[in-house]
Amino acid sequence: MIASLIGNRVTLREMKEMDWNDVHSYASLPTVCKYQPWGPNSEEDSREFVQQVIADSNEIPRSRYVFAVIVEGKLIGSGEINIQDFIDRKGEIGYIMHPAFWGLGYATEVARILIEFGFTQLNLHRISATCDPRNIGSVKVLEKAGMIREGTIRDDFLIHNGWRDSHLYGILEHEWLEKLSSR
Ligand SMILES: CC(C)(COP(=O)(O)OP(=O)(O)OC[C@H]1O[C@@H](n2cnc3c(N)ncnc32)[C@H](O)[C@@H]1OP(=O)(O)O)[C@@H](O)C(=O)NCCC(=O)NCCS
Repeated sequence: MIASLIGNRVTLREMKEMDWNDVHSYASLPTVCKYQPWGPNSEEDSREFVQQVIADSNEIPRSRYVFAVIVEGKLIGSGEINIQDFIDRKGEIGYIMHPAFWGLGYATEVARILIEFGFTQLNLHRISATCDPRNIGSVKVLEKAGMIREGTIRDDFLIHNGWRDSHLYGILEHEWLEKLSSR
């Protein structure tokens, strides 16, 4: 169990079984899943998602960290970092917010917290993320969090309306440290 990660406005804490209902309030919406290879979730999907997150948090070694995003005591989304490779110290981040809270800077704060956690506590050397090129909100989040676009993966996922490309973003440990010291 990781202690909560505290930002200026958001707190990231580990998921609990009872969170499935709040997760379902956004994961069941077509607008949230528009560019995703999953969803919209049934209640069963959202329950299973939270159960899997909790099961994965107990794996040793642990490679998956999914946090509930809390603002003013309310769960408004989730943020995730996965260790893809322990030898080469590579990880990947992702995030989802309830549409009622879009455009307020929360996902950008979540991405920054996940990146800091990955470099300072998970000992990563490289952190990546992918997003649909049409997902302007996510492109902005990744660029504001200091990630660099490295290329575009063609036909990366088969989603509800056809094959989906992905922009690949990355940030290296030394780039993150340089950005920190220039702030
Ligand atoms: C992508 C997503 C996480 C952005 O969350 P958010 O909390 O609104 O992000 P921020 O407020 O930090 O926004 C960053 C920028 O994107 C803009 N933005 C957010 N949502 C947008 C949208 N739907 N369309 C266009 N721009 C959008 C914000 O206005 C902001 O712009 P600015 O920097 O010019 O002010 C959110 O839309 C979401 O959960 N989408 C569904 C799931 C998803 O796509 N997850 C990402 C998977 S790669």
